[in-house]
Amino acid sequence: MSLKSKNIIKQLLLDNLSATRQLAEKLSALLKIGDIIGFEGNLGVGKTEFCRALIHGLGYKEDVPSPTFSLVQIYEPPMDDLKTAPVWHLDLYRLDQPQDVLELGIDDGFDTAITLIEWPDRMGRYLPDQHLQILLSMDDHEGGRKMIIRGDDHWKARLKELNLDDE
Ligand SMILES: Nc1ncnc2c1ncn2[C@@H]1O[C@H](COP(=O)(O)OP(=O)(O)OP(=O)(O)O)[C@@H](O)[C@H]1O
Ligand SMILES: [Mg+2]
Repeated sequence: MSLKSKNIIKQLLLDNLSATRQLAEKLSALLKIGDIIGFEGNLGVGKTEFCRALIHGLGYKEDVPSPTFSLVQIYEPPMDDLKTAPVWHLDLYRLDQPQDVLELGIDDGFDTAITLIEWPDRMGRYLPDQHLQILLSMDDHEGGRKMIIRGDDHWKARLKELNLDDE
């Protein structure tokens, strides 16, 4: 059992892709270096769409491809930009075994960037306890998604600032 227990912080209904994007942009405003978010949910549920909007929300203007085959994409701000945090975006679906994640240099990412991880269960015990957990699932109506956000008290306090409506 982990010492830092994760509770449900929010349950939301995202009616369409633009609702997903709006939430991601809102969340991007409070993220900082050292934050880790794990995105769980089936293939095609919207993990990458959320990460893409979040990375754009942080100020990156370029395309955000899915790291399906590269496993990791790193976004670095220009040298003279002191505001924008680096981002590591991972998709671990194709990771063969948990320890292979170390070869991606993920320890560096945790310390120096905001880390977004799709399929975080693939890295097993190498996933730090303090990560924020975002679970996505399909809603009954087309284009709708259910989202459950889980995290420790520290995350709960930070997310309060977002004033998210409960569904
Ligand atoms: N409300 C919604 N939120 C997010 N995506 C949505 C929504 N409604 C429809 N979509 C569509 O669902 C698809 C989500 O694809 P995406 O690549 O983000 O999934 P994923 O969870 O990253 O899958 P994978 O496990 O393969 O990485 C996109 O085609 C997107 O347009
Ligand atoms: Mg994806």
